[in-house]
Amino acid sequence: MGKDVIIACDFAGARETFAFLDRFTEEKPFVKIGMELFYAEGPEIVRQIKARGHKIFLDLKLHDIPNTVKKAMAVLSGLDVDICNLHAAGTGAMMRAALEGLTRPDGTRPLLIAVTQLTSTDQEAMEQDLWIREPIDQVVMHYAENAKNAGLDGVVCSPLEAEKVHARCGAGFLTVTPGIRFADSAAGDQKRVTTPARAKELGSDYIVVGRPITGAPDPVAAYRRCAAEFID
Ligand code: C5P
Repeated sequence: MGKDVIIACDFAGARETFAFLDRFTEEKPFVKIGMELFYAEGPEIVRQIKARGHKIFLDLKLHDIPNTVKKAMAVLSGLDVDICNLHAAGTGAMMRAALEGLTRPDGTRPLLIAVTQLTSTDQEAMEQDLWIREPIDQVVMHYAENAKNAGLDGVVCSPLEAEKVHARCGAGFLTVTPGIRFADSAAGDQKRVTTPARAKELGSDYIVVGRPITGAPDPVAAYRRCAAEFID
């Protein structure tokens, strides 16, 4: 899979999601399904979006004991999604178990990527609440390396970290990067934002874009603008 724009379908239900996807008559965007939509609609929403021909990043961020994550991943693998994820904080043992669960009898599996530290966690919260004292950028790189050593395919990170992650974990280790905004659009609650063009320069493999597309007056035009800046 090459560079692509993934649309974060952060909608409350199937009706809103399909009304949105119906606008795309010429292209089949790669879509991200998160906890809100998955918990509202269940696995059927994944099957329906897949049946329409979209690639899917199922963003459920698993984090539990290795055996539970392994079994849950086996279920997700059966949904035939393209990318799944988990928290690197679950340890190498959990990540290796996840890979085992995800691998189908024929040896194929969805890509598996890790969340390092959530972008909502800052240095202070990490020190006070998680009792991790090291600088957060070093923690992110250490977790990325753990994910790489466990055999995962990449991480979710900021485009600003993509270069460092590639330097540390290899050019083929995927960086999937949210926090994308057009130069002329509102940042919302995202703190450190990057344009699609800048994300391309920084070496992101996939950009995850939500509101700049889903909230645009013309989502198809916004999607094409993202793709033109990032891919072409
Ligand atoms: O609307 P926006 O473009 O900010 O959406 C970004 C998407 O990426 C959301 O679904 C958000 O949950 C997700 N995400 C993020 N930062 C992370 C991980 C996921 O913004 N570190």
